[in-house]
Amino acid sequence: MKLIIGISGATGAIFGIRLLEILKDRSDVETHLVMSQWATTTITEETHYTVNEVRNLADFYYSPKNLGAAISSGSFNVDGMIIAPCSMKSLASIRMGLADNLISRAADVMLKEEKKLVLMTRETPLNSIHLENMLKLSQMGVTIFPPMPAFYNHPQNLNDLVDHIIYRLISQFGIDILPKEKVWTGFTKQGNLR
Ligand SMILES: Cc1cc2nc3c(=O)[nH]c(=O)nc-3n(C[C@H](O)[C@H](O)[C@H](O)COP(=O)(O)O)c2cc1C
Repeated sequence: MKLIIGISGATGAIFGIRLLEILKDRSDVETHLVMSQWATTTITEETHYTVNEVRNLADFYYSPKNLGAAISSGSFNVDGMIIAPCSMKSLASIRMGLADNLISRAADVMLKEEKKLVLMTRETPLNSIHLENMLKLSQMGVTIFPPMPAFYNHPQNLNDLVDHIIYRLISQFGIDILPKEKVWTGFTKQGNLR
């Protein structure tokens, strides 16, 4: 499977990084990475990774300015694209079809080629512009996947919380690696079924 991974400049660069780390262990997934200029800022500001370390997690890396990259064309066949995290600016750009950098161009290609596009939109609170943009793209078949933590699986730390979200994210592409004990299988405590 070939996946385009976009990392934009919303907070939560670790989501894109963990996604790449998990996919790197899989020989059946080829990753094509593009990071926005602001993503490079959030990576260095929020994590202990360097931008080069993040680049090296992917099989292929492209500059966001390179609109001539392979992933800028529908003739380059991929299975889909994930943007994690996806800023409200990238969301708006995709919704409007601006294709003003390689993230929004590659996403635009996903839309025109009717390929799977998953946006990990990250902002809070959301204004009507954000909500409208998400609604419009959802109506076009895009999966809006905000990084909402789950607690039914009893996360012990931040890593557990992030990884659970990433496992759920990649299961959108049929990659099912959520540990069995983290799957909700029904109530465990007596009296909870009323
Ligand atoms: C530390 C930091 C955190 C940010 N968090 C968010 C966020 O959660 N959501 C968002 O939409 N923008 C956020 N921004 C603003 C975006 O980086 C900014 O809108 C930028 O233009 C996004 O461009 P891009 O989508 O091309 O990366 C943040 C900026 C910084 C520096």
